[in-house]
Amino acid sequence: MSATEDPWEHHATWWRETFTNGADLEYELQILPLAESHLEGAARVLDLGSGEGHLARRLVRASLEREIVVGLEPSAAQLESAIGQAGGPIYVRGVGERLPFRDGSFDGVVCCLVIEHSSDPDALLAEAVRVLAVGGRFVLLVNHPMFQGTGSGFVDDQIMGEHYWRVGPYLREEIVSEEVDPGVWLPFAHRPLSRYVNPVTALGCVLTRLEEPVPPLAFLEGSIDLELESAIPRLLLLRFERPRAAQMGR
Ligand SMILES: C[S@@+](CC[C@H](N)C(=O)[O-])C[C@H]1O[C@@H](n2cnc3c(N)ncnc32)[C@H](O)[C@@H]1O
Repeated sequence: MSATEDPWEHHATWWRETFTNGADLEYELQILPLAESHLEGAARVLDLGSGEGHLARRLVRASLEREIVVGLEPSAAQLESAIGQAGGPIYVRGVGERLPFRDGSFDGVVCCLVIEHSSDPDALLAEAVRVLAVGGRFVLLVNHPMFQGTGSGFVDDQIMGEHYWRVGPYLREEIVSEEVDPGVWLPFAHRPLSRYVNPVTALGCVLTRLEEPVPPLAFLEGSIDLELESAIPRLLLLRFERPRAAQMGR
Protein backbone atom coordinates (compact mmCIF):
# COMPACT_ATOMS: atom_id res chain seq x y z
CA MET A 1 0.00 0.00 0.00
CA SER A 2 1.48 3.41 -0.97
CA ALA A 3 1.54 6.34 1.48
CA THR A 4 -1.28 8.12 -0.39
CA GLU A 5 -3.62 5.13 -0.56
CA ASP A 6 -6.68 5.07 1.68
CA PRO A 7 -6.10 2.27 4.23
CA TRP A 8 -9.86 1.70 4.44
CA GLU A 9 -9.70 0.31 0.89
CA HIS A 10 -7.61 -2.55 2.26
CA HIS A 11 -9.35 -3.16 5.55
CA ALA A 12 -13.04 -3.27 4.66
CA THR A 13 -13.24 -7.05 5.14
CA TRP A 14 -11.43 -6.81 8.47
CA TRP A 15 -13.83 -4.04 9.55
CA ARG A 16 -16.93 -6.01 8.59
CA GLU A 17 -15.76 -9.24 10.20
CA THR A 18 -14.46 -7.62 13.39
CA PHE A 19 -17.02 -4.92 14.15
CA THR A 20 -20.32 -5.34 12.33
CA ASN A 21 -23.38 -7.59 12.22
CA GLY A 22 -23.01 -8.55 15.86
CA ALA A 23 -19.24 -9.21 15.84
CA ASP A 24 -18.40 -6.45 18.34
CA LEU A 25 -20.13 -6.28 21.72
CA GLU A 26 -19.43 -2.59 22.24
CA TYR A 27 -21.18 -1.67 19.00
CA GLU A 28 -24.06 -4.04 19.67
CA LEU A 29 -24.67 -3.20 23.31
CA GLN A 30 -23.82 0.47 23.33
CA ILE A 31 -22.78 2.40 20.24
CA LEU A 32 -25.61 1.47 17.87
CA PRO A 33 -28.47 1.77 20.41
CA LEU A 34 -27.09 5.08 21.70
CA ALA A 35 -26.77 6.61 18.23
CA GLU A 36 -30.23 5.36 17.33
CA SER A 37 -31.80 6.86 20.44
CA HIS A 38 -30.32 10.29 19.72
CA LEU A 39 -31.78 10.26 16.20
CA GLU A 40 -35.28 9.28 17.20
CA GLY A 41 -37.84 11.32 15.29
CA ALA A 42 -35.39 12.63 12.66
CA ALA A 43 -37.02 11.97 9.29
CA ARG A 44 -34.07 12.62 6.98
CA VAL A 45 -30.76 11.29 8.31
CA LEU A 46 -27.21 11.42 6.99
CA ASP A 47 -24.74 8.84 8.31
CA LEU A 48 -21.48 10.64 7.59
CA GLY A 49 -18.69 8.07 7.11
CA SER A 50 -21.08 5.12 7.09
CA GLY A 51 -18.46 2.37 6.63
CA GLU A 52 -20.18 -0.90 5.76
CA GLY A 53 -23.49 0.59 6.86
CA HIS A 54 -24.52 -1.24 10.04
CA LEU A 55 -25.68 1.97 11.74
CA ALA A 56 -27.42 3.23 8.60
CA ARG A 57 -29.25 -0.10 8.18
CA ARG A 58 -30.34 0.04 11.80
CA LEU A 59 -31.64 3.57 11.33
CA VAL A 60 -33.69 2.46 8.31
CA ARG A 61 -35.22 -0.36 10.39
CA ALA A 62 -35.71 1.71 13.54
CA SER A 63 -38.45 4.08 12.53
CA LEU A 64 -41.48 3.96 10.31
CA GLU A 65 -41.53 7.77 10.17
CA ARG A 66 -38.06 7.80 8.67
CA GLU A 67 -38.24 9.28 5.17
CA ILE A 68 -34.70 8.68 4.09
CA VAL A 69 -31.31 7.53 5.37
CA VAL A 70 -28.21 8.37 3.33
CA GLY A 71 -24.84 6.74 3.99
CA LEU A 72 -21.90 8.84 2.83
CA GLU A 73 -18.60 6.99 2.57
CA PRO A 74 -15.30 7.66 0.75
CA SER A 75 -13.98 4.09 0.53
CA ALA A 76 -15.11 2.07 -2.50
CA ALA A 77 -14.35 -1.18 -0.63
CA GLN A 78 -16.51 -0.16 2.34
CA LEU A 79 -19.31 0.87 -0.02
CA GLU A 80 -19.10 -2.41 -1.90
CA SER A 81 -19.42 -4.25 1.39
CA ALA A 82 -22.39 -2.04 2.34
CA ILE A 83 -24.28 -2.32 -0.92
CA GLY A 84 -24.06 -6.13 -0.80
CA GLN A 85 -26.22 -6.22 2.35
CA ALA A 86 -30.00 -6.30 2.46
CA GLY A 87 -32.26 -3.58 3.90
CA GLY A 88 -29.88 -0.73 3.23
CA PRO A 89 -30.19 3.01 2.89
CA ILE A 90 -29.08 5.05 -0.13
CA TYR A 91 -25.30 5.23 -0.40
CA VAL A 92 -23.26 8.09 -1.83
CA ARG A 93 -19.51 8.10 -2.33
CA GLY A 94 -17.86 11.22 -0.96
CA VAL A 95 -15.89 12.77 1.87
CA GLY A 96 -17.21 14.52 4.94
CA GLU A 97 -15.21 17.66 4.21
CA ARG A 98 -17.14 18.30 0.94
CA LEU A 99 -20.66 16.98 1.20
CA PRO A 100 -22.59 16.72 -2.07
CA PHE A 101 -25.88 17.89 -0.51
CA ARG A 102 -27.77 21.17 -0.39
CA ASP A 103 -27.87 23.32 2.74
CA GLY A 104 -30.46 22.12 5.26
CA SER A 105 -31.08 18.72 3.60
CA PHE A 106 -31.18 16.61 6.80
CA ASP A 107 -32.98 16.60 10.16
CA GLY A 108 -30.23 14.48 11.66
CA VAL A 109 -26.55 14.00 10.88
CA VAL A 110 -24.61 11.29 12.67
CA CYS A 111 -20.85 10.87 12.48
CA CYS A 112 -19.73 7.77 14.37
CA LEU A 113 -16.02 7.12 14.99
CA VAL A 114 -15.08 8.92 11.78
CA ILE A 115 -13.72 12.36 12.66
CA GLU A 116 -10.64 10.71 14.22
CA HIS A 117 -9.74 9.72 10.65
CA SER A 118 -10.17 13.18 9.13
CA SER A 119 -7.19 15.49 8.65
CA ASP A 120 -9.50 18.52 8.40
CA PRO A 121 -12.03 18.31 11.24
CA ASP A 122 -13.04 21.98 10.90
CA ALA A 123 -14.17 21.41 7.31
CA LEU A 124 -16.02 18.21 8.24
CA LEU A 125 -17.83 19.85 11.16
CA ALA A 126 -18.75 22.91 9.05
CA GLU A 127 -20.20 20.64 6.37
CA ALA A 128 -22.19 18.61 8.91
CA VAL A 129 -23.75 21.84 10.23
CA ARG A 130 -24.36 23.27 6.74
CA VAL A 131 -26.48 20.29 5.63
CA LEU A 132 -28.49 20.34 8.86
CA ALA A 133 -31.99 21.80 8.68
CA VAL A 134 -33.03 24.42 11.19
CA GLY A 135 -34.13 22.51 14.31
CA GLY A 136 -32.01 19.51 13.25
CA ARG A 137 -29.45 17.67 15.35
CA PHE A 138 -25.87 16.60 14.83
CA VAL A 139 -24.72 13.55 16.79
CA LEU A 140 -20.96 13.14 16.98
CA LEU A 141 -19.43 9.99 18.49
CA VAL A 142 -15.70 9.84 19.10
CA ASN A 143 -13.23 7.73 21.02
CA HIS A 144 -13.04 9.61 24.30
CA PRO A 145 -10.37 12.27 23.58
CA MET A 146 -9.05 12.41 27.14
CA PHE A 147 -8.85 8.75 28.08
CA GLN A 148 -8.29 7.05 24.74
CA GLY A 149 -5.70 9.38 23.16
CA THR A 150 -2.07 8.59 22.30
CA GLY A 151 -0.20 7.26 25.30
CA SER A 152 -3.37 6.63 27.32
CA GLY A 153 -4.32 3.20 28.52
CA PHE A 154 -4.47 0.57 31.20
CA VAL A 155 -1.17 -0.07 32.98
CA ASP A 156 -0.52 -3.34 34.79
CA ASP A 157 2.59 -2.54 36.84
CA GLN A 158 3.73 -5.95 38.04
CA ILE A 159 6.74 -4.57 39.95
CA MET A 160 4.73 -2.12 42.05
CA GLY A 161 1.70 -4.39 42.04
CA GLU A 162 -0.54 -1.57 40.79
CA HIS A 163 -3.13 -1.08 38.10
CA TYR A 164 -3.89 2.40 36.87
CA TRP A 165 -5.06 4.33 33.84
CA ARG A 166 -2.40 6.50 32.30
CA VAL A 167 -3.52 9.68 30.51
CA GLY A 168 -1.32 10.68 27.57
CA PRO A 169 -0.42 14.23 26.44
CA TYR A 170 -4.05 15.34 26.08
CA LEU A 171 -3.47 18.76 24.56
CA ARG A 172 -1.03 17.57 21.90
CA GLU A 173 -2.66 17.30 18.48
CA GLU A 174 -1.27 14.64 16.22
CA ILE A 175 -2.17 12.06 13.63
CA VAL A 176 -0.54 8.72 14.28
CA SER A 177 -0.71 5.48 12.41
CA GLU A 178 -1.77 2.75 14.85
CA GLU A 179 -1.67 -1.02 14.42
CA VAL A 180 -5.14 -1.88 15.73
CA ASP A 181 -4.87 -5.57 14.82
CA PRO A 182 -1.90 -7.48 13.43
CA GLY A 183 -1.16 -5.93 10.00
CA VAL A 184 -4.03 -3.40 10.21
CA TRP A 185 -2.61 0.12 10.34
CA LEU A 186 -5.00 3.06 10.46
CA PRO A 187 -4.39 6.77 10.98
CA PHE A 188 -5.90 8.23 14.16
CA ALA A 189 -6.02 11.93 14.94
CA HIS A 190 -5.84 12.84 18.62
CA ARG A 191 -7.28 16.21 19.55
CA PRO A 192 -8.66 17.76 22.69
CA LEU A 193 -12.41 18.02 23.16
CA SER A 194 -12.44 21.78 22.51
CA ARG A 195 -11.43 21.08 18.87
CA TYR A 196 -14.78 19.36 18.36
CA VAL A 197 -17.09 21.52 20.46
CA ASN A 198 -15.97 25.07 19.66
CA PRO A 199 -16.15 24.91 15.83
CA VAL A 200 -19.73 23.64 16.01
CA THR A 201 -20.97 26.14 18.59
CA ALA A 202 -19.18 28.93 16.65
CA LEU A 203 -21.50 28.06 13.75
CA GLY A 204 -24.56 28.77 15.91
CA CYS A 205 -25.33 25.24 17.14
CA VAL A 206 -26.02 24.47 20.77
CA LEU A 207 -24.53 21.54 22.67
CA THR A 208 -27.62 19.87 24.15
CA ARG A 209 -26.24 16.58 25.44
CA LEU A 210 -22.91 15.01 26.32
CA GLU A 211 -22.66 11.31 27.13
CA GLU A 212 -19.73 9.35 28.57
CA PRO A 213 -21.29 5.92 29.04
CA VAL A 214 -19.85 3.23 31.28
CA PRO A 215 -18.36 0.62 28.91
CA PRO A 216 -20.65 -2.42 28.66
CA LEU A 217 -19.65 -4.89 31.34
CA ALA A 218 -19.91 -7.81 28.91
CA PHE A 219 -17.37 -6.01 26.71
CA LEU A 220 -14.94 -5.69 29.64
CA GLU A 221 -15.23 -9.35 30.60
CA GLY A 222 -11.78 -10.80 31.24
CA SER A 223 -10.34 -7.44 32.27
CA ILE A 224 -7.60 -7.56 34.93
CA ASP A 225 -9.25 -4.76 36.91
CA LEU A 226 -12.93 -4.52 36.05
CA GLU A 227 -13.63 -1.89 38.68
CA LEU A 228 -11.02 0.46 37.25
CA GLU A 229 -11.85 -0.14 33.59
CA SER A 230 -15.56 0.35 34.20
CA ALA A 231 -14.75 3.83 35.57
CA ILE A 232 -12.92 4.93 32.42
CA PRO A 233 -15.06 6.00 29.44
CA ARG A 234 -14.17 4.72 26.00
CA LEU A 235 -16.79 6.68 24.11
CA LEU A 236 -17.91 10.30 24.02
CA LEU A 237 -21.16 11.38 22.41
CA LEU A 238 -21.88 15.04 21.70
CA ARG A 239 -25.30 16.11 20.54
CA PHE A 240 -25.71 19.54 18.98
CA GLU A 241 -28.87 21.21 17.76
CA ARG A 242 -29.26 23.87 15.14
CA PRO A 243 -31.64 26.30 16.82
CA ARG A 244 -34.69 27.72 15.13
CA ALA A 245 -34.16 31.35 14.12
CA ALA A 246 -36.01 32.75 17.15
CA GLN A 247 -33.64 30.95 19.53
CA MET A 248 -30.43 31.94 17.78
CA GLY A 249 -28.23 34.58 19.33
CA ARG A 250 -29.90 34.41 22.74
C1 LIG B 1 -14.16 3.36 12.16
S1 LIG B 1 -15.03 3.35 10.65
C2 LIG B 1 -16.67 3.78 11.22
C3 LIG B 1 -17.73 3.46 10.22
C4 LIG B 1 -19.15 3.72 10.71
N1 LIG B 1 -19.37 5.11 11.02
C5 LIG B 1 -19.46 2.86 11.91
O1 LIG B 1 -19.55 3.38 13.02
O2 LIG B 1 -19.58 1.64 11.72
C6 LIG B 1 -14.47 4.88 9.93
C7 LIG B 1 -15.04 5.15 8.55
O3 LIG B 1 -14.82 6.54 8.25
C8 LIG B 1 -14.53 6.66 6.88
N2 LIG B 1 -13.83 7.95 6.69
C9 LIG B 1 -12.52 8.21 6.87
N3 LIG B 1 -12.24 9.49 6.57
C10 LIG B 1 -13.42 10.06 6.22
C11 LIG B 1 -13.80 11.37 5.79
N4 LIG B 1 -12.89 12.34 5.68
N5 LIG B 1 -15.09 11.59 5.48
C12 LIG B 1 -16.01 10.60 5.59
N6 LIG B 1 -15.71 9.34 5.99
C13 LIG B 1 -14.43 9.08 6.29
C14 LIG B 1 -13.68 5.45 6.56
O4 LIG B 1 -13.63 5.18 5.19
C15 LIG B 1 -14.37 4.38 7.40
O5 LIG B 1 -15.34 3.70 6.65
